[in-house]
Amino acid sequence: SMRQSFTSIRAEVDDAGVAVLTIDRPQALNALNATVMQEVVSACLFLDRNHPTAKVIILTGAGDKAFAAGVDIKEMAAVGYAEAYTSSMLNGWETLRSVRKPLIAAVNGYALGGGCELAMMCDIILASDKAQFGQPEITLGVIPGMGGTQRLARAVGKSRAMEMVLTGARVNATEAVRMGLASRVLPAAELLDEARKLAGRIAEMSAPVVAKAKECVLVAQEQGLNEGLRFEKREFWSCFALSDQKEGMSAFVQKRKPEFKHM
Ligand code: CAA
Repeated sequence: SMRQSFTSIRAEVDDAGVAVLTIDRPQALNALNATVMQEVVSACLFLDRNHPTAKVIILTGAGDKAFAAGVDIKEMAAVGYAEAYTSSMLNGWETLRSVRKPLIAAVNGYALGGGCELAMMCDIILASDKAQFGQPEITLGVIPGMGGTQRLARAVGKSRAMEMVLTGARVNATEAVRMGLASRVLPAAELLDEARKLAGRIAEMSAPVVAKAKECVLVAQEQGLNEGLRFEKREFWSCFALSDQKEGMSAFVQKRKPEFKHM
């Protein structure tokens, strides 16, 4: 349950159906060690599968410097190839792909390496004016290993992704928005409130319809247009099996606010 005691993240769910997970190792700029991975993944899976009142999950970092400054370099430094390969190092993060509820990254500072990749695993990125995005792995003698080469190329295009991945150069929040990596820049002091507001608006919608919409947009990232259009059409048609479709459309006709039952 969410009552399990986490050591490296904080978790809370409010009355609006918004869960906030905070990576809480500010002394290490929220570097993603094995414990953070295990706790973020298990909290997300729990919120997704076993917590019906939580509708949207916000991920952020503790302190005012970092979202996450990457995978924990001190933990990785001595790893050999055989161990990396046989332990499927960092593969645990892939589990987040099975989360159906929307994930919002509230990037409050450095999002570097695995931190940038974790933000890109989320569905929406909001950036504070202190945010810095980058894939500095190349400067450490490695390459991104949590999807960075793939998701960054899809998010910002080949040339800009190449520049970032081959040089490790960072981009600030304004540049990240201009590139399409993040949705919006917000003053640091307003970031979490705005993220909660955004999450709250989504939480008011029909949860199964939100999940369908999310899945369809992700198919656009993962598959070709023909497959994507067929997938969308089937998901669209399937909405008509939900009572929330009847509620949403009759509320419009009756000029009232819908009350979705999430079914
Ligand atoms: N892993 C482990 N510890 C980290 C860390 C990381 N990724 N990033 C920062 N820290 C630690 C520092 O070692 C330091 O600890 P100590 O106080 O014990 O020395 C503490 O956090 C504060 O960091 P700095 O003193 O370096 O802070 P700064 O303000 O001078 O610099 C920074 C900030 C530019 C972000 C710098 O910390 C930095 O370059 N960090 C590493 C960024 C990076 O290379 N990330 C990629 C990691 S590899 C990866 O993620 C692999 C992948 O693809 C999945």
